[in-house]
Amino acid sequence: MEELYKKLLDGNKEWVAKKLAEDPLFFEKLVKGQAPPLLWIGCSDSRVPANEIINAQPGEVFVHRNLANMVVHADMNMLSVLDYAVRILKVKHVIVCGHYGCGGVAAAMSNKQYGFIDNWLRNIKDVYRLHQKELDELKDEQQRSRRFVELNVIEQVLNVCKTSTIQNAWQELNCPHIHGWVYDVGNGVIKDLKVSVKNNVDMSEIYRFDL
Ligand code: CO
Repeated sequence: MEELYKKLLDGNKEWVAKKLAEDPLFFEKLVKGQAPPLLWIGCSDSRVPANEIINAQPGEVFVHRNLANMVVHADMNMLSVLDYAVRILKVKHVIVCGHYGCGGVAAAMSNKQYGFIDNWLRNIKDVYRLHQKELDELKDEQQRSRRFVELNVIEQVLNVCKTSTIQNAWQELNCPHIHGWVYDVGNGVIKDLKVSVKNNVDMSEIYRFDL
């Protein structure tokens, strides 16, 4: 245990040395501030590190991660990150990135109790209910769980769009664009679900704000 702990700090020293070897001004540039063009909303899963899988450097991605990359409209943490990213940092893109094999999505698909997180997983079960017909028709369990991951991302993209932060930004700044991706832990490849949204024209009317 102590060894692992020491390894973390040693790892940091090695990383600093590596970065400085690549670019002696690396940290001097970063300390001036950040202007990332992208907000990433992803899963907390350790196998899906936001920057690394899109080959991005520090300073390039503003990140929010939680269990199963959820956008829950009463989540003060997510809403604050979103508002800061959009209004202050003026990000050009918001990407919701799920991943196949997501433990949160699998747990939500089962009837098992997991304790406190059942309250969080409830939000994912609601996605299942919305798409129950399509999902129940998929008899292969793996196929059904992969599609559930995709549908969950699509619903979270819509949840981003439903916020007043985003709808006001569309009106005032003509951005950001909201996208849905799924990462495949098994081969490292990202699938663009091609559900990008740039305005509230096609949004269900009840969610559309007068601007
Ligand atoms: Co996950």
